[in-house]
Amino acid sequence: MSPLNVGIVGTGIFAKDMHLPCYQAYPDRFRVAAANNRTKSKAENFAKLAGIPENKVYDTVDEVFQDKDIDFVDAMLPVQYNLDIVKKAIAAKKPILLEKPIAANLKQARELVHVAESSDVPVGIAENWLYLEVLEEAHKHIGKIGPILAFTHNSTGPFVSSNKYLATTWRQNPEHIGGFLSDGGVHQMGLAASLVGEFETVSALTRQVREQSGTDDIVFSTVSIKNSDVIGTFTYGSAFGATDKSVYLKIYGRNGSLLVDLSDKAHPVVKVRVGGTQETAGSEEVYPVKTDGTAGVKAEFLNFHETVSKKDKHLFKGSPRVTFHHLAVIAAFLDSSAKKGSPVKVEEP
Ligand SMILES: NC(=O)c1ccc[n+]([C@@H]2O[C@H](COP(=O)([O-])OP(=O)(O)OC[C@H]3O[C@@H](n4cnc5c(N)ncnc54)[C@H](OP(=O)(O)O)[C@@H]3O)[C@@H](O)[C@H]2O)c1
Repeated sequence: MSPLNVGIVGTGIFAKDMHLPCYQAYPDRFRVAAANNRTKSKAENFAKLAGIPENKVYDTVDEVFQDKDIDFVDAMLPVQYNLDIVKKAIAAKKPILLEKPIAANLKQARELVHVAESSDVPVGIAENWLYLEVLEEAHKHIGKIGPILAFTHNSTGPFVSSNKYLATTWRQNPEHIGGFLSDGGVHQMGLAASLVGEFETVSALTRQVREQSGTDDIVFSTVSIKNSDVIGTFTYGSAFGATDKSVYLKIYGRNGSLLVDLSDKAHPVVKVRVGGTQETAGSEEVYPVKTDGTAGVKAEFLNFHETVSKKDKHLFKGSPRVTFHHLAVIAAFLDSSAKKGSPVKVEEP
């Protein structure tokens, strides 16, 4: 089978540093074949790296959609443009992969879900954490700990002033709700919800610690899980002073506990303890996880390849409906915090 031709829209940091090398890792499946960017010179530079011919560096997004050789579009724009580009994709009947979060706010996200679900055209939200190798490992063992009772999700770290993403103007003046809370928080939600289920209600307090974040950048919350008695805490923020990077999900069951620890992202690990009481506890099982260093992006691309090749939008894990929930939880955190931590129900699409 010949490779799928990809049209890139938005040739910024993530396009160059992550998407391009991941496509190039599978030359039998993908050919990066066209590009468009607001600042054309950046698209031209990207084209040189990608081996895209000059006549396929387009001035407008519409030209990418009109190009009959392009099998799907990969859009990496500030997220407030996601809804508009999905509408263009559906009108052109061209599959589209979009970078997360699904949209800048819940109104746009809800419309995006409904527009995407009204058509058979595959629309994928690139929440690559849904494909983390450590998640797959955790799924193998989660059954051992019996019914889940509670969990603690924690992703905290020191502020990194040299973070390359901090320098992008659309992040400094965010039009998307929650700024960095939604930017990275939807990844955390993807991981947590995949293992413990979707959140039903949240009671949260958020704060802005760093001026550079543009808006609130830490959240501490307690939550309940849909259709269950499961309760948990969810803490997120990398705006603190010097501290260790601590990224983990600990799940407590009636017959043991499971820890997913991503603090060292090159060496994630799953740890399991089985037993209904301290007296019957077995020794700790430790499962180190090998990663390909792309935080799930390569696996995500293979999933989108299959989705487009088989023309079956249901094959893609990061559907608009699944990823709506992750943004809806961030929206609920902000809403709850505005109400001084009162419980808020997470909205449905
Ligand atoms: N999955 C992940 O882990 C991950 C990591 C990083 C980023 N991302 C996502 O990737 C996307 C891009 O992020 P990035 O970090 O690569 O940012 P970036 O470097 O700022 O790239 C954004 C691109 O969009 C273009 N753009 C900006 N404003 C525009 C406008 N008004 N109209 C049309 N194009 C516009 C920019 O063009 P100019 O050259 O003209 O500025 C730039 O090339 C975002 O959706 C982000 O959430 C995901």
